[in-house]
Amino acid sequence: MAIKLACTGISKEYRTTSGQKSLALDDISLGIEEGEFLTVVGSSGSGKSTLLRILAGIDQPSAGSTSVYDEKTDVKIGFVFQGNAVFPWRTVEGNLSYALDMRHSSNEIKRGHAVELCNLVGLVPPDTFLEKYPHELSGGESRRVAIGMALSAGASLLLFDEATSQLDYVSRLRLQMTIQKLWLEKSPLLSGYKPNRFNWLPESTKYSWESKG
Ligand SMILES: Nc1ncnc2c1ncn2[C@@H]1O[C@H](COP(=O)(O)OP(=O)(O)OP(=O)(O)O)[C@@H](O)[C@H]1O
Ligand SMILES: [Mg+2]
Repeated sequence: MAIKLACTGISKEYRTTSGQKSLALDDISLGIEEGEFLTVVGSSGSGKSTLLRILAGIDQPSAGSTSVYDEKTDVKIGFVFQGNAVFPWRTVEGNLSYALDMRHSSNEIKRGHAVELCNLVGLVPPDTFLEKYPHELSGGESRRVAIGMALSAGASLLLFDEATSQLDYVSRLRLQMTIQKLWLEKSPLLSGYKPNRFNWLPESTKYSWESKG
């Protein structure tokens, strides 16, 4: 199977404001293939978010390289950030249609797209969520909006940074089922989790890592 995203020999050294150096990643190599669900497991501070940001191209490594590849089309990466990265001043519909705003799509197309994403991420029935603002949502609902946003530009690869942390057990199970569905229907998926967060790990999980802690 073709490798979609890979990194080789990634290291990341941060320098703090006071000038202290800290090595967050040391010589990490991995690859994610078409159809795969890859989970990086590590304790707090072990570098999961740093690695995901580098893989997404949001941050640069101090050493090593990353590559994305798809023989048919461009690889579009959707990123679900660890915090609830939604626009607080936009409604659910406004958040989910942000990517289409950039393309100046019509209101009708944006509404249809937002409804489709609501159904996909389990914000159902969509009508009860579309007009709400993020402060009017629960933590789990807000995470679902963030996942919908990551999907809204047609991502072919999803990176999740602790998508279900800070949720209660039942909400976490529900969201894990949504994530499993997305993985089966949509995209290869790479996620970062602390040990014990993710009770369900798919069989294709092949990479677990504890860099420190
Ligand atoms: N901008 C920064 N400047 C300096 N050090 C940083 C910076 N960002 C992260 N670090 C350090 O790098 C290490 C890895 O941080 P990172 O956020 O990647 O960990 P994590 O595995 O995602 O942790 P958590 O599970 O708590 O989210 C930590 O020791 C952290 O203090
Ligand atoms: Mg993190």
